[in-house]
Amino acid sequence: MEEDNDFAGDLALDAIEEIGPATKGRLEEAGFKSIKDLVVRGPVDIAETTGIEMDKSVYLCNKARVRLEELGIIDKTFITATKLYDKRKKEERISTGSKNLDDLFEGGIETRAVTEVYGEYGTGKTQICHTLSLLVQQRKSKDGKVSKALYVDTENTFRPERIVSIALSRNLDPDNALDNIIVAKAYNSAHQELIIEQTGPIIDANNVKLMIVDSAVAHYRSEFLGRSTLSERQQRLNKFMHMLLRIAETYNVAILVTNQIVSSPDVVFGDAFKPTGGHVVAHTSTYRIYLKRSGKNRIARMVDSPYHAEREVLFKLTEQGVSDPDEQSKY
Ligand SMILES: Nc1ncnc2c1ncn2[C@@H]1O[C@H](COP(=O)(O)OP(=O)(O)OP(=O)(O)O)[C@@H](O)[C@H]1O
Ligand SMILES: [Mg+2]
Repeated sequence: MEEDNDFAGDLALDAIEEIGPATKGRLEEAGFKSIKDLVVRGPVDIAETTGIEMDKSVYLCNKARVRLEELGIIDKTFITATKLYDKRKKEERISTGSKNLDDLFEGGIETRAVTEVYGEYGTGKTQICHTLSLLVQQRKSKDGKVSKALYVDTENTFRPERIVSIALSRNLDPDNALDNIIVAKAYNSAHQELIIEQTGPIIDANNVKLMIVDSAVAHYRSEFLGRSTLSERQQRLNKFMHMLLRIAETYNVAILVTNQIVSSPDVVFGDAFKPTGGHVVAHTSTYRIYLKRSGKNRIARMVDSPYHAEREVLFKLTEQGVSDPDEQSKY
């Protein structure tokens, strides 16, 4: 794994003229390495971690954003819908391993977006994460570099052996497959946040195209128990989810997070389960997929998307990770 800590030129912090040596020093001390970090972490975080005044933090953050727009790294603030449409058609997709599931996303998991997969235990969330980490490597960028995966494992369920078995059953080289996945184990919610703050340079230096957080919510749920801590938990989770969204946009990566569900006693009709994390997670994820068991198969339902209707497809968990049911069986 490569680490790139030396930002020179366009993305260096002092490429913004208001950032002199002293400000630069304070930012670096708080872990800001490039202009992208300013955009990803946002003004509140800049002010809180560096002691720079809020007004100046907002100013620096806006300057950083304009700079990234000028460099073509993020979308311009004002853009015609036609341009946006053309850009979206070119947006890269990552295959899930199942044709049905890819169809649900119109070609695979989207870059520059956060996709949330939720469902009961054993419905295949972690299997989807493993399969995607392998299949992202099938696509090469224009300069011929392999796309890599960054896997943030919060539940200690990442298994390199599983990557090997999925690779072998798909006739892919297992050693390469392992080399191209960077794993970060998060031991608690604060550690999980720290990891995310530090991912920027790793994404750039390693050509990471997919980032997984399995699971996004588990640590928050286990650490913040009871009603009295609910608001702090939601605030932290909100900050975390927004940072993921900005990373997806700024670094042009696909982000997939998993989430558990809890039974909800107040539901009388329909599904008495809902994803954890409440509105915070629901509103920040771009796409939400709900997984359910259906005999030996699994059902994936697109629950929330800015442009898809609610629809469901069938997939299966096999030695190959995620794949399609043998015959396109009915439920
Ligand atoms: N080698 C394999 N071959 C076939 N199926 C497998 C294999 N490994 C795991 N599975 C299937 O995957 C299921 C586990 O799925 P997974 O770990 O993705 O669940 P999850 O949704 O992440 O659950 P949790 O909420 O507990 O994290 C197993 O029940 C099994 O059906
Ligand atoms: Mg899991």
